[in-house]
Order: sequence, then C-alpha cells, then structure tokens
Amino acid sequence: MAPIDDVNRGPRVPYTRRMGNETRDEERSPGVGSAGVETLFPPGVVAVEWRGGPDPEALSEAEIESLGRAAPQRRREFAAGRQCARQALARCGVAGAVIGRGADRRPLWPEPFVGSIAHTADYAAAAVAHRRDVASVGIDVERRDAVGEHLWRRIAVPAELEWIEGLPAAERTAAATLLFSAKEAIYKCVYPWLKIRLGFQDVAIEARFAGQGTGTLAVRRCGAAPPLPAFDARFRWEGRYVLTGVSVPADAAPRECDAREVADEFVQGAG
Ligand SMILES: CC(C)(COP(=O)(O)OP(=O)(O)OC[C@H]1O[C@@H](n2cnc3c(N)ncnc32)[C@H](O)[C@@H]1OP(=O)(O)O)[C@@H](O)C(=O)NCCC(=O)NCCS
Repeated sequence: MAPIDDVNRGPRVPYTRRMGNETRDEERSPGVGSAGVETLFPPGVVAVEWRGGPDPEALSEAEIESLGRAAPQRRREFAAGRQCARQALARCGVAGAVIGRGADRRPLWPEPFVGSIAHTADYAAAAVAHRRDVASVGIDVERRDAVGEHLWRRIAVPAELEWIEGLPAAERTAAATLLFSAKEAIYKCVYPWLKIRLGFQDVAIEARFAGQGTGTLAVRRCGAAPPLPAFDARFRWEGRYVLTGVSVPADAAPRECDAREVADEFVQGAG
C-alpha cells in the first residue's frame, strides 16, 4: 500500500475531547432540513437531511416499481432517501423529480445533475449538484458503533489500523466507523462517475479534526488502485451517527476519455 504521508499525520487527539461540542440528537427536531448535512460539502452542492419523525412523502409509481419487493422498514428508508433527494433537486429548480434506480442500485438523477443518497432507520440524507459545478458526489451515514473490532482488518489498510489501535480503547470503534463511512461515500462518488468498484484496501483515509465534531478527510490511493481525483472529503459527528460527504469539483475531473482509460487500467490490473 502507499503509506499515509507523515506530513499530514495530525496529533492523536482523543475523539472524546474533540467531540465535546458536537450536535446531540436532542438538539435537532425531527423532520427535514439541511443545517448539519450541508456542512459536508462545498458551495454548489445542495444537501437535505431527514431526521425521522413523520413518515416520509409517498413514492412515485416509478420509484415503487424500481424498488421491487421490500420489507416495510426498507421501503421507509428508501422513501426517506428519495424525499431528501427530491427536495434537494427542488432547491436546484427541478420540482417533483422522480429519482430512478439502476440495475447496479445506484440512484439515477435527472440531467444535468449528479447526486448521492444515504439512510438508516431514523436518518436519511441526499446531496445533489449541477454537473457544471461538480463531477460527482457521495454521502454516507453510519451509527458510530457500526464497525466492531472483527471488521477492522477488512476495512482498514495497515496505516489506518495502526491509527485505530493507537487510540484509547473507548474511541476505536467510532474511529473505525468514520473510516468505513468515508470509504462508502467515496465508493458512491466514484462508481456512478467512473464505473470503478473500489475496494476497502484501495484508499487510505486520514481524519483531520476541526473542532465542533467536524473535520476533513485526506484521501490517498493505495497499492494497485487506479488514479483517483482530488476529493473534497468531510465528516461530522451527529448524535449517534457519523456523516461523511465527498465531492469532486467539475474542473478537477479527468476528461471523459481519461475516465475510460482509468477504468480499463483498473480491470487489467485486477486480472
Ligand atoms: C453501495 C454501498 C456503498 C451502499 O452503502 P450502505 O452503507 O450499504 O447503504 P446507505 O444507506 O449508506 O446507502 C444506500 C444508498 O446507496 C446508493 N447506492 C447503492 N448502490 C450504489 C452504487 N453502486 N453507486 C452509488 N450509489 C449507490 C443508493 O442510493 C442506496 O439507497 P437506495 O437503494 O435507497 O436508493 C455499499 O452497499 C457497497 O456496496 N459498498 C461497496 C464496498 C465499498 O464501499 N468499498 C469502499 C471502497 S473505498
């Protein structure tokens, strides 16, 4: 793997101290808004979140069909994600949009927009941007206790593992979950754009804490991973959740032919 650059290795300040001023669950009322989630992205990305409470809006016929047979909880989360996506698009001037679903499960956005969706039982969010401004975007949310020790070796590269294991025991699971969430957000950003299925060992993440339960994430590719663009990657502790947001400015994007070359190179490398 490519080692994480020592120059960028921040001080190992315990999460608990850093998270002193984070937003707690009870400080936000249920419903739809964007106060927390919008901080995950630069200007040009519109983000909307749903924090449980009343049932999400009804799905359109096309959306119901694209979901297929699904348990009630899955249907509710799907609807919550679609509601956030629809409201984000409405803020971009597209009213009543239908957000389809590809065979590969990615959301299908009306042109000329890119976007991403994430959800859990009582929190959902979507981020949307115009292609003129942003090449691609990814968002993820995880419960901060989601990634237990048995998963660390699978989701973390050696330098990340070293970082996790150097933290006080009480902070390790949250740290591992932050890395996991960031990688999920990167996957959601990269796959719809470049059609590359990144693996957990393909990138290394380093968290840089900015206070107030927020920070940025340095992303480096590892080993045989394909060349990747420079990501704007951020995180936020929100109650029992960690949120991550990743975006690539349009002017940082490789030309379309470069994207295909990158994908070919990756497939050949994997073979
Ligand atoms: C696709 C994936 C990222 C979804 O993440 P998750 O934590 O399981 O679920 P979330 O609730 O956060 O997100 C689900 C949403 O992701 C979106 N999604 C699903 N597949 C997607 C894809 N291929 N590309 C982009 N977005 C996708 C969908 O909008 C989905 O919600 P919906 O089905 O209601 O529309 C995950 O299941 C996966 O396959 N990961 C691959 C391995 C990986 O992440 N590697 C990291 C490499 S750095």
